[in-house]
Amino acid sequence: MADMLDWTSADLEKLDAAPYEARADEMAGRLVAETGAGRLPFLTMPYGPILKDDLAGLQPFLNRFDHMLLLGIGGSALGARALQKAFFPQQDQPGHTGPSLWIADNVDAYALEAYLAKLPPEKTVVVTVSKSGGTIETVGQYFILKEWMQRHLGEDWAENMLLVTDEAKGFLRGEVERYHIKALPVPDNLGGRYSVLSAVGLIPAAFLGMDVDALISGAREVVAPLTSAELTGDQLTRHPSFQLATWAASLLDKGYQEMIFFTYVPLWASFGDWFAQLWAESLGKEGKGSQPVPAIGVTDQHSVNQMFMDGIRNKACLFLTCPNLPAGPKFPADLPDQFAYVRGKDFGELIQAEGLGTRMALSKNGVPLVEMRLDADTPREAGKLIGLLGAATILTGWLMDINPLDQPAVELGKRLAKARMDAEGLDEEKADLNAFLTADLDLREF
Ligand code: PA5
Repeated sequence: MADMLDWTSADLEKLDAAPYEARADEMAGRLVAETGAGRLPFLTMPYGPILKDDLAGLQPFLNRFDHMLLLGIGGSALGARALQKAFFPQQDQPGHTGPSLWIADNVDAYALEAYLAKLPPEKTVVVTVSKSGGTIETVGQYFILKEWMQRHLGEDWAENMLLVTDEAKGFLRGEVERYHIKALPVPDNLGGRYSVLSAVGLIPAAFLGMDVDALISGAREVVAPLTSAELTGDQLTRHPSFQLATWAASLLDKGYQEMIFFTYVPLWASFGDWFAQLWAESLGKEGKGSQPVPAIGVTDQHSVNQMFMDGIRNKACLFLTCPNLPAGPKFPADLPDQFAYVRGKDFGELIQAEGLGTRMALSKNGVPLVEMRLDADTPREAGKLIGLLGAATILTGWLMDINPLDQPAVELGKRLAKARMDAEGLDEEKADLNAFLTADLDLREF
């Protein structure tokens, strides 16, 4: 069996995708222009061969360490976590003894204190990942870890550090040059949420021993046709990413304002968070877009699923399955009559049955749904999924006539937080903040 998209329950007949399908020539032309100009490295991956050599060269260095502490946030962390949870579950299981990856993607004093208190500095590599090189949540942790390393390792501190940042600019690039810290670049024009298949996601993956080549070649299988200089509208029309994009855009026209990402591959649950950032930061623009809602099968059948099934009818669903998950142990034959239906069956049969039941019930309850059915839960399939969803997101944004590669609206909150910390300049934000904090408050104790 191949990896499949099952469109049977997509409700295509209730939608009007024709105006979007009619833009296939325009979209193909845009892809040719953008990839030709080097503005879509997510698809063309021009950095691939050099990165492969860099990772091979880095491996002996990585092998020196038992722990990797990754400092990064948003696109600089979510892809790495999705790969870690999917392909290195042993760290969360009893008896783990191999390498450990810790991802510090929040401003969490408890977690940071624990890392500082419990990680052995000489066996830890601190990997700071920031494309801009100036994100305070990340660089702030870098300052603390740098001082910690200096305290423990003295003048050798920089030998346990690795930076992943822009090749030419930003504060962290300055650190690389000043202290001769090992560094790998985040390629130009590769935004955080599109960067998991660059050094950003592949350094932690390589540290944990994942098959990085399979990830990349899986993604290439899907995105390579989109990078042809001869790409036509007809070819694009047949590509699954364009089909998902026309579906997603036409869903918006019919008021489907939420996009559930329901994962029935339990170890791949963190791909839901990766997808949510990709979809939200790319498409939430100018009053448009659909809210991504990550959900985990079967866990969330006993949580948010009631709302999916019978709440407001504004939800569509991407439903991830893999019929070839491990069978697991067998249920004992000697079970009470009440549970006779599972006697002697494989534990793994249950998740498949529950996935089928939920998928069918969603469909019966009016949720347009595309099943993404993986033949296997391997790195190749993860690469294919990353390529497919990234490309579909870009194309959806273009069909919505917004820019899927920026995220301007997240800046205001960051500027206000900096104003609160008394950063220089930002006079307007400081005045705004003052007005906000001195307005009449409506405080009620609970
Ligand atoms: O997708 C994005 O571009 C963002 O989520 C960034 O990844 C996030 O803001 C972190 O930025 P940086 O890598 O510059 O520290």
